[in-house]
Amino acid sequence: MNANTTPETLAFTDGKLVLIDQTRLPGELVTLVCENVEQTHDAISRLVVRGAPAIGIAAAYGVCLASPANHEGYLAAIERLATSRPTAVNLFWALDRMKDVIQRTTADDDLAELLLSEAITIHDQDRQMCRDIGRHGASLLGDCRAVLTHCNAGGLATSMWGTALAPIYHLHQAGHPIEVFADETRPLLQGARLTAWELSQAGVPVTVLTDSMAGSLLKSGKIDAVIVGADRIAANGDAANKIGTYPLAVLARYHNVPFYVAAPSSTFDMALPTGDLIPIEQRSRTEVSNPHGTCVVPDAANVMNPAFDVTPAELITAIITERGVVTAPNPAKLTEHLR
Ligand code: MRU
Repeated sequence: MNANTTPETLAFTDGKLVLIDQTRLPGELVTLVCENVEQTHDAISRLVVRGAPAIGIAAAYGVCLASPANHEGYLAAIERLATSRPTAVNLFWALDRMKDVIQRTTADDDLAELLLSEAITIHDQDRQMCRDIGRHGASLLGDCRAVLTHCNAGGLATSMWGTALAPIYHLHQAGHPIEVFADETRPLLQGARLTAWELSQAGVPVTVLTDSMAGSLLKSGKIDAVIVGADRIAANGDAANKIGTYPLAVLARYHNVPFYVAAPSSTFDMALPTGDLIPIEQRSRTEVSNPHGTCVVPDAANVMNPAFDVTPAELITAIITERGVVTAPNPAKLTEHLR
């Protein structure tokens, strides 16, 4: 992402959390200001701010908005924000870091200051993470001309370049010709609305396809690699990401195209041995039945709307983190990588 053309996904300014309202893109680029915990909870739940790392950063700043601003108030804020979305483990990782600060702090310390400083550190580390994933990923994608991605794992999902899009921005800035094919990503269209928007802002060629076109696109031989983000990765490398990622991994394997997952170490949940244990968010019927406010499903029909699926580790060619690359991930390699 080009820092000159794209505003901050999230910022903490004058004691308030300022978010790009991602529900309004690409039509309108507007911000939404959160002044308290409840507004932050609502912004995360409604996907005003979304994407695993961005959710974690927003929640960390959200804790700083607690009232009363004391131990009890901050702990209650953490408990409340932890109910905003269930799948992205970065949310709980960030809230745990904030809780550690509270538990370490004596009554004499300035707790508000220490919590804000921790949230800023989480935010700063995220920027560095994006650069590092960009660099490591670029070494894998260096020969690629066309990549396919799903959902949005770019600057709008983090505070800088993103995870899956970071290597693309890295290569683009280095003058390497690379184009992106973006699945539209039903039902909320993060690929069409967000990935296509931010790549266009940065001057990276991008083509949107409906999710169901991915098979024929991969069959055509035009795609050199598939790269996606993750919301939670289990100890064996099984990776939860936006619904529709798993079928993409199956297609990539069938067509002999490498399938990469890019995610920071804060996305790993080493307490879960396999991806079967990852909690999958179930979202509302209307997201599927009423796209753009128009009802397209008869009232009598049931609707499924899981927000994520889990790709088994055996379908993942490599996982890229800020620490480097783990090819053919397995529990031993991941434990060593994260040590
Ligand atoms: O429901 P969303 O839009 O929050 O889902 C986001 C994704 O699935 C992303 O791919 C994932 O969070 C990685 S973001 C770097």
